[in-house]
Amino acid sequence: MIQLPASSVAVGIGGSQAAVDVPTDDRHADLARAKLLDGRVVSLRCLDAEDADAVLALHQNLPDGDRDFRFLTLSPVDLPRLASALTTPDANSSAIGAFDKGCLIGAAIYAISDDPRAGALAIVIARDDHQRGVSAALLRHLGHLSRRHGLQRLVTDVLSTNRLMFTALSDAGWPYRGITHGAITHLEIDLAAAV
Ligand SMILES: CC(C)(COP(=O)(O)OP(=O)(O)OC[C@H]1O[C@@H](n2cnc3c(N)ncnc32)[C@H](O)[C@@H]1OP(=O)(O)O)[C@@H](O)C(=O)NCCC(=O)NCCS
Repeated sequence: MIQLPASSVAVGIGGSQAAVDVPTDDRHADLARAKLLDGRVVSLRCLDAEDADAVLALHQNLPDGDRDFRFLTLSPVDLPRLASALTTPDANSSAIGAFDKGCLIGAAIYAISDDPRAGALAIVIARDDHQRGVSAALLRHLGHLSRRHGLQRLVTDVLSTNRLMFTALSDAGWPYRGITHGAITHLEIDLAAAV
């Protein structure tokens, strides 16, 4: 399983036609705004220390199934440590959040490990906000950030039953190659080919 370092996130909105990115001047230099499938407009920006409590709450409130999809383990995860890591600036990672009226509803991260051309990807969306195009938006902007960071590909290990994650990658316009080992599929996303 990919071990994500203390920080790295990315968010984006729909590679879909329903999602529209427009410039924004929100706090912390927002990356963009994106229109969701239900008409809401969310802000996308990098996470920082002020977001630690919101990141913690986002993960604490995951239903068990989503928690399994996110962490691929039944063992306890140190969520306060994870939240701190995701909201601490780090030259080797980026973490982005999607905010609806100031409330964090999703986060995406990438973290560079051994290979400076590859980043480990992770993403999570609040259950009540699934299937609205939040992850597609986050992924698209994560792609911009990671390319600017000089990355050529993103990698992640997902449960092979995680249909929503495969769909989200496709919706974001991210071609991927998957190698399945039992219950886990290792995904490699070619950023040069991504929309
Ligand atoms: C996987 C996950 C991130 C997907 O997030 P999401 O925000 O629900 O994904 P999206 O809304 O962008 O896309 C999913 C659905 O919306 C649909 N959709 C997205 N954009 C669309 C658009 N513009 N028009 C029509 N449909 C669209 C997709 O087709 C899909 O629908 P379907 O399931 O009926 O086929 C989310 O389910 C999650 O947080 N899971 C738990 C954590 C996890 O699994 N993380 C991955 C491993 S790190």
